[in-house]
Order: sequence, then structure tokens, then C-alpha cells
Amino acid sequence: MQKGTLLYEGKAKKIYSTEEEKIVWIEYKDSATAFNGEKKAEIEGKGILNNEITSLLFLKLDEAGIPSHFIKKISDREQLVQRVDIIPLEVVVRNFSAGSLAKRLGIEEGIQFKQPIVEFYYKDDSLGDPLIIDAHIRELEIASSDELIKLKEHAVKVNAVLSSFFEEIGIRLVDFKLEFGKTAEGNILLADEVSPDTCRLWDLETNEKLDKDVFRRDLGSLTDAYENILTRLGGRLHV
Ligand code: C5P
Repeated sequence: MQKGTLLYEGKAKKIYSTEEEKIVWIEYKDSATAFNGEKKAEIEGKGILNNEITSLLFLKLDEAGIPSHFIKKISDREQLVQRVDIIPLEVVVRNFSAGSLAKRLGIEEGIQFKQPIVEFYYKDDSLGDPLIIDAHIRELEIASSDELIKLKEHAVKVNAVLSSFFEEIGIRLVDFKLEFGKTAEGNILLADEVSPDTCRLWDLETNEKLDKDVFRRDLGSLTDAYENILTRLGGRLHV
């Protein structure tokens, strides 16, 4: 498989075409961004860690009957994935209060919810990715009612699998963000990445933060935190 032209460059990844129309080539970058791009840094090796962690988690999800765009990891920082049109929604699942929700509701972090909360944010940098409700999504024709039901079902399923998987390795899945895409056939498929960039992961015993909050809040070494996650997942460190 050959890497073709650059189709898209996001904050953390580049996407290239391949000679296969239905397959694209993803490269994980070392850029770290937060607060809608206001805080930026280059962290050597971050892309390698996220590629490895995302690949392991997509394989785990696949084994649990949740397919995704992931086809295979082809190098330290590259993957082949199925081409999809990304639905412009960030689907956030929350098991414990943290981050923007703790702020919005004026509650402390770490409170367990009675059941997982699923939220949708409209992916639009110029608007600052606002929280939106189902009626807005239907009105903007981002997704139909049936698709919204499917997105919620998928998100809840991913949460169940990942929560118990992380618990086995001593980690609390506090919250996370998913993105979904549509294949040429119109099927909804889990896409983007699942990594410490997109999940809040706290040590079960100590509540130590092992995710991008380390960067957002200047809590120490992001590399150490991500390596900790990768090691617990049984992945290999590139030293
Ligand atoms: O910031 P907030 O508390 O709403 O984030 C909820 C979850 O979604 C966190 O795990 C965060 O890392 C993730 N997220 C993300 N990309 C965004 C916004 C949030 O991965 N643009």
C-alpha cells in the first residue's frame, strides 16, 4: 500500500489517500493542543504512544464485537483505516464528573454518576465546539433520529467494554470522547482515536491523572503518563 496525497491535517493527525479508494493512511503527530488550540506544544514521541494505544484499544473493541475504522498499524506512528465521512459531532461519555461538566454544573470532580451520561458537542472550531441537544442535531441535519439512537447505543457499548477493560488494569475511565463516520455505504462506524488524548484516565488507587489533563493543567510529564497507560495495556515502549 502506498501513501498518497495529504487529504486533511488536524491538530494531532494527518490523513493521506492510498491507491485503495476505501482506505486512508493516518499519521499520528507529536503536537499537543488544548483549549481549542490556545495551548500548544510538541511532545516528542506522543504520536508514537497514541498510535500504539489507539491500535491496542481498537483491537480490544473489535474483539468485543465493536468494529471501528481501524484496519492495522503499519509503523510507529502510522495506521491504515477505512475511509469514512466524519459526522461533525463529538460524542462524550461520562462516568464521573470532571472537566467541562464539573465546571458547568458547579460540582467537584470525581463524583460517580448514577448512569453514564452521553453528550453531543458540535465539531466546529469557530463556534468553540458547543454542547448541543438532539433537536439541534436534527435541525442542522447532522444526524437523523435513528442515527442519534445508534450513536448513543454505540457510545454506551464502547463505554461498557472500555470501563471494565481499564478497571482490570487499575484505571478508572472517567470520561471520553468518540467520533463516528459514515462509510460510502452509509454505515456508521467508530472512527478517529481512543487514547489518553481523548479519555480521562485516573489511577484507581491514587486518582493520579494519566491523560491529557497532565498537559492541560501542567501536572507533570505527559510522556510518563501515556507510557504508564501503554505499559499497563501490555504494549511495548519504544526506547
Ligand atoms: O472537556 P470535557 O470535560 O468536556 O471533556 C470530556 C472528555 O472528552 C475528556 O476525556 C476529553 O479528553 C475529551 N475531549 C476530547 N476532545 C475534545 C473535547 C473533549 O477528546 N475536543
